[in-house]
Amino acid sequence: MDVLAMSWILRLLGRFHPTTIHFPIAFLLVAAVVELLGILRKKPLLTECLYPALAIGSLGAVLAAALGWADAASLRFDPDDRFTLAVHRWLGTAAALLSSAACVYDLASRRGASGGSRVVFRTLLFSSAVAVAVGAHFGGILVYGHDYYTSALTGNGAPAPTTDAPHPSPTAKALRFQEDILPVLEHYCVRCHGPKKQNGRLRLDSRAGVLQGGKLGPSIVPGASARSPLYRAITDPEPDTRMPQEGQPLPPELIHRIQAWIDEGAP
Ligand code: HEC
Repeated sequence: MDVLAMSWILRLLGRFHPTTIHFPIAFLLVAAVVELLGILRKKPLLTECLYPALAIGSLGAVLAAALGWADAASLRFDPDDRFTLAVHRWLGTAAALLSSAACVYDLASRRGASGGSRVVFRTLLFSSAVAVAVGAHFGGILVYGHDYYTSALTGNGAPAPTTDAPHPSPTAKALRFQEDILPVLEHYCVRCHGPKKQNGRLRLDSRAGVLQGGKLGPSIVPGASARSPLYRAITDPEPDTRMPQEGQPLPPELIHRIQAWIDEGAP
C-alpha cells in the first residue's frame, strides 16, 4: 500500500479518537470508584464488576491513545496549544499504560502464590483513573478552548446566526459587518480567533481585526473575495486547511453572504 493511502487511513482512524475516548474514561472511573467503595466499606465490593470494567477500560484506553496519536499527527495545532496538547497526550498515554499495568498485575498476581499486593494494584488503578480524568480535561480545553465553561456564564458563545438571509437579496440592503457578518464569525470562528485564542495571530471579533488579519496579512481584500484569505479559508476544498478548523464547512448561504459583503467593499 502506498504512503499516501496509508496516511489517508491513519487520518480517518484518527478522527475516531473523540468517539472512542469516552468509553475508557467511564470504565476506568467505574473501576476506581468500585475499588474506592471497597476500601471505605473495608471489604471487597462488586469485584465481578471491577475487573471487567478495568479490562474494557484499559483496552479502550490503549485504542483511544493510539488513535489520539494518529489524530494529532494529521491536525495542525496553534503554537499556543502545544503545551495543552503535550499534557493531554502524555496523560492519555500514561492512562493507557497504567491501566494495562493494573490489568496485567492483577492477572499475574492471581496466578502467583503470593496473591500480589493490593497496594500496588490500587496505586496503578487510581493513578490511571486520575490520568484519564485530568487528561480528558486537557483534551476538552484543546477542542473547546480555555473559556468553554466561563463563556456560558459571561454570555459569550454567540447563538447560531440564521442561515436565511436577513434581507430578501443582498442588493436590497447593503450587508453590514456588525449586523450581518459578526454574528457568523462569532458563532463559527471567534472561539479560535477572538479575545481568548488568536490562532494564526488572527482576531475575527471586530471589523478592525478582520482587516488587520493574521500571520498571512489582512484576511480580506475589500472588493475582491477571491483574493481574500478569509474567503479562501472558508471555501478551501481541503478539509485539513478549511475553516472553521475541525468542523463542518459553513452553510452555503453564509459563505455567499460573506462573499457578497467582501465584494461590496466590506462595509
Ligand atoms: C478550532 C479552531 C479554529 C476555528 C473554529 C477557526 N479557525 Fe481559523 N485558524 C485556526 C488555526 C489553528 C489557524 C492557524 C493555521 C496555521 O497557522 O497554520 C487558523 C488560521 C486562519 C486563517 C489564516 C490566518 C493567517 O493570517 O495566517 C484564516 C483567514 C482563518 N483561520 C479564518 C477562519 C474563519 C473565517 C473561521 C470561521 C469560519 C475560522 N478560521 C475558524 C483555527 C481555527
